[in-house]
Amino acid sequence: MEKKKIKSKSIFVFDAFGTLFKTSEIDTELQNIAKDKTENLISIWRKKQLEYTWLRNQMNKYAPFSQVTKEALDYSMRVNQLKNPRIFDLLLPIYNRPNLIDGVQETLDFFQEKTICILSNGTRSMLENGVQKTGIENIIDHLFSVDDLGIFKPRKEVYQMVLDKLEVSKNEVLFFSSNQWDVSGASNFGLTSVWVNRNNEVREGLPFGNVLEVQNLEELRHLLNIDKEVS
Ligand code: LAC
Repeated sequence: MEKKKIKSKSIFVFDAFGTLFKTSEIDTELQNIAKDKTENLISIWRKKQLEYTWLRNQMNKYAPFSQVTKEALDYSMRVNQLKNPRIFDLLLPIYNRPNLIDGVQETLDFFQEKTICILSNGTRSMLENGVQKTGIENIIDHLFSVDDLGIFKPRKEVYQMVLDKLEVSKNEVLFFSSNQWDVSGASNFGLTSVWVNRNNEVREGLPFGNVLEVQNLEELRHLLNIDKEVS
């Protein structure tokens, strides 16, 4: 994808968790409780959290992400035979009091002339808490939660919601996510998408549309910055 094409887009839409907000911080207290099961606990939790959103989409059984996240954790605890309720206190707040991923602040500052939005499967209150806690509330122009629709990404209605609410067309939007299923969903819907592949993941066997892959947001910033200096 050409740099010019990216620069001409005025609406930058970011996924929240894993893209802007960290979801990977593991407390030492959790490790003391779950011990050698910690990794499996987290891994099954994350997988089920996503799986439950997709299954709920299929069944038209929407529930807020906070509930799905809790139900997935409850399942993972039972699978791992962990009963200590303190695990809920340690893990669930990650989604209400997240930290920013390194480099995100600088990137958002760099893009300040754009309209910056968040489009997330998270609940509105999670997103409001998140932008407040991380101090980026003044940089974010619009928060879009799937709560307003009662459907999760990657259903196309969710990406369409941004276009409808902002009254813009697909070609004005650049969508960012670290989650491949989300990049697949957005790019198939027709949004030019940036896959922020921080963990050097192998590309999934999913359909993709127009996708630019970067290793981190700084890489994209650098790319556009150089362009700025040259022009
Ligand atoms: C989000 C997570 C689920 O939509 O990636 O913010």
